[in-house]
Amino acid sequence: MFDLKNKVAVITGASGGLGEAMAKAFSLHGAKIAILDLKDGEPIIKKLKTKGKYYHLDVLEEMNIERVINQIKKDFGKIDILVNNSGIFFPTPIEETSSKDWEKIIDVNLRGYFLVTKYSVPLMKKGGRIINIASIAGTHAFAGSSAYNASKGAVIMLTKTFATEFAQKGITANAICPGVFETPMTKDLLNSKEMQQMIKNSVPLARPAKAEEIGGLAVYLASEESSYMTGSIITLDGGWTCHL
Ligand SMILES: NC(=O)c1ccc[n+]([C@@H]2O[C@H](COP(=O)([O-])OP(=O)(O)OC[C@H]3O[C@@H](n4cnc5c(N)ncnc54)[C@H](O)[C@@H]3O)[C@@H](O)[C@H]2O)c1
Repeated sequence: MFDLKNKVAVITGASGGLGEAMAKAFSLHGAKIAILDLKDGEPIIKKLKTKGKYYHLDVLEEMNIERVINQIKKDFGKIDILVNNSGIFFPTPIEETSSKDWEKIIDVNLRGYFLVTKYSVPLMKKGGRIINIASIAGTHAFAGSSAYNASKGAVIMLTKTFATEFAQKGITANAICPGVFETPMTKDLLNSKEMQQMIKNSVPLARPAKAEEIGGLAVYLASEESSYMTGSIITLDGGWTCHL
């Protein structure tokens, strides 16, 4: 079960945090890994059990996406699993959110997923898997992060559209909605006493997740065993949204 041997997984934003955790989990199950990130991914590649390669990429640069995907075709020959994971989050109240910041968040978190998918799908065959990392902020509104919430809500609809449009190719698409995980993105937030208290009070499991705790679900979604699951939006949040 959950054998990813001979599979090629492309993961955006995998030079740290949840992307790194998924890269390690896929590699442990036998997949070869391509990391696409702005940040250097070589240190992660060195820790993998299988073949891996880092490609420097800004997911907003369409021409570079095309170039990197062509290079992946030369290096690995195909793509079996695509994880759209790269993301940014900087909370500000609506009145203090500039259009520049709004555009940047929507662009990285949404257009980036669209563009990387657009160029990856032609290299994917029947049995291909797309996993979009959304957020519970895409299903439940959190004050102070309007652009982020909107981007993640749109990722959920994009996932359902991928599922519908790519079904005829035999490619599935699902989204994971994490709650709060310990990653570089949430480091400052999780250092605040208010946030720690809020998690104790509001998250039934009363703690943030470790990044590795996304691995099992991601491996399942990447594997043959998830063959009948597509268009699903899966919450992984320690129970937080049960009572929101
Ligand atoms: N950590 C959490 O609690 C949490 C909760 C819900 C959803 N998420 C989502 O999970 C995903 C991963 O987040 P994380 O917590 O690991 O964050 P992170 O900051 O640790 O990792 C994000 C990665 O994306 C890369 N990246 C950012 N902009 C990029 C760009 N333009 N081009 C290429 N790469 C880019 C960064 O370099 C970084 O390596 C994000 O989509 C995030 O919104 C995280």
